[in-house]
Amino acid sequence: MKLYSTIFATFNVIACCFAADQDILTILKQQNDISTFITLLEQFDDLVDLLNQGTFSGMLIYLPPDGRADLNLVLIPNDKALAAFGNENPDLSNDTDAVRALLEYHIANGTHPSATFGLQPLFVPTLLTNPDYTNVTGGQVVEITSLDNRSAVVSGVKAVSHVIEADIFYLGGLIHIVDSVLTIPISFPATITKAGLTDLVALLNKGGFLTPSSPAATIVNSLADLTIFGPNSAQFSASFTGWDGLSSTDLLSILRYSISQGPVLYSSGFQNNTKIPTLDGLSATMIEQNGQFYVDASLITTKDYLTSNGVLQILDSPLSPNTTGQPPLSTPISNHGGGARGLSTAAAAGIGIAVGAILLGGTLVAALYIRIKRRRRLADLTGGQTGDPPPRYELDTKGFDEGAVDAAEVPRSRVIEIHHPPQPPSPLELDGQERSRVGVAAQGTAPRHLGFQARS
Ligand SMILES: *[C@@H]1O[C@H](CO)[C@@H](O)[C@H](O)[C@H]1NC(C)=O
Ligand SMILES: *[C@@H]1O[C@H](CO)[C@@H](O)[C@H](O)[C@H]1NC(C)=O
Ligand SMILES: *[C@@H]1O[C@H](CO)[C@@H](O)[C@H](O)[C@H]1NC(C)=O
Ligand SMILES: *[C@@H]1O[C@H](CO)[C@@H](O)[C@H](O)[C@H]1NC(C)=O
Ligand SMILES: *[C@@H]1O[C@H](CO)[C@@H](O)[C@H](O)[C@H]1NC(C)=O
Ligand SMILES: *[C@@H]1O[C@H](CO)[C@@H](O)[C@H](O)[C@H]1NC(C)=O
Repeated sequence: MKLYSTIFATFNVIACCFAADQDILTILKQQNDISTFITLLEQFDDLVDLLNQGTFSGMLIYLPPDGRADLNLVLIPNDKALAAFGNENPDLSNDTDAVRALLEYHIANGTHPSATFGLQPLFVPTLLTNPDYTNVTGGQVVEITSLDNRSAVVSGVKAVSHVIEADIFYLGGLIHIVDSVLTIPISFPATITKAGLTDLVALLNKGGFLTPSSPAATIVNSLADLTIFGPNSAQFSASFTGWDGLSSTDLLSILRYSISQGPVLYSSGFQNNTKIPTLDGLSATMIEQNGQFYVDASLITTKDYLTSNGVLQILDSPLSPNTTGQPPLSTPISNHGGGARGLSTAAAAGIGIAVGAILLGGTLVAALYIRIKRRRRLADLTGGQTGDPPPRYELDTKGFDEGAVDAAEVPRSRVIEIHHPPQPPSPLELDGQERSRVGVAAQGTAPRHLGFQARS
């Protein structure tokens, strides 16, 4: 263990390392294949300033609050991706507002190292708040996830951008390079058309909802923060007769019952037994059964089409105010403690964490302060018993230079036990938050990336 050993690094060391880090343009110019993005970004001095003012949020590394924004996550499409996008959108370069909106949509708020992608569904607000492009309060979101074991970002019309180079740290945050330009979510009608949800389009046409003069069109196009539940199922398509003979008032009431306004309900917010207030005045009921979510008796079959003013959740059948509160048809199977188990997995996964390499005179020093608040919350929910053993973390050392002296002694991976905070709390817990601590010191060629992954 000559090349690295576990230490407890002090708070001051961490603070000094990050303070010495470099601004975004300096860091970006050290990367290959992203010069197009740099040229775009350089047009907006205020965005550059904002990016440099980001700071690491408490979750990863604690720095004293000084009024700076949370860590910024910057998603950067490479040159190839931007060239493809430019070919499809030739008018873009002359439209400053559009370029700005596009850049803003690529800057997300919060701490999201690639190792945390996909551990739980996450819908992260971006800087895009321009009402010409979005009516989502707090900023249009991107979904960060993992698809086919690769870190990915999902945007409008379920466009997938894979992360091709992850966890590049700069002064104010973290950069991931992605292989395609994110799609700013478009309106609900445009989304269902472009996504090819033909059964849903046919059904809405049956209800007369897509006629521009219909009150339905005004609702879906002009209200903010909507969650729309719509079926996309051959059974409820052009041949559907269930709505025949209903008055326009009844039809509108069905539409209004299928829409919720308020905090947008992405799948990350799905919870058993929740009442979803609808525009119709009645509440629909969300039920979890066998790992699937239902709204009243309708199964949610496809989650999270981001739209300009919220999200669309796809069902297997239409909702109706006349069947409000109707439970799913299938018989519930017994699931003792099923909810608690689900929570436990999510809680364990939620503290997966990664840290970039910080160079300090040829020595790598990194420290993690990992909150275990989630576990505490779980303990509260389960009546005070924590049950589970502390999570184990595996240090991924594949970035170490194998040609280095004593390379044979470098273990390819090493399990580090994380211990619960000592009692009484250590003086390092400056803000009173409980944390587990691990410090890692490595000598020799620093790895480009250290990944920690929660194992349960
Ligand atoms: C962009 O503006 C320049 C100069 O104003 C003009 O020559 C060019 O044709 C414009 N490009 C597009 C795609 O509109
Ligand atoms: C990021 O999120 C935090 C807390 O959610 C908020 O206070 C802050 O204003 C956000 N920053 C930006 C730049 O949107
Ligand atoms: C993802 O990784 C896991 C474990 O490494 C593996 O079992 C699984 O087959 C992978 N899935 C895909 C889609 O590659
Ligand atoms: C946001 O709402 C306003 C006011 O209703 C509307 O004029 C605008 O078109 C909406 N923007 C988007 C992107 O839907
Ligand atoms: C609900 O049921 C009533 C009574 O059967 C009927 O008149 C009404 O049209 C129904 N409404 C809807 C939206 O189906
Ligand atoms: C959801 O709540 C219902 C009703 O309380 C219950 O029967 C069901 O088991 C719960 N589902 C899960 C997955 O906990």
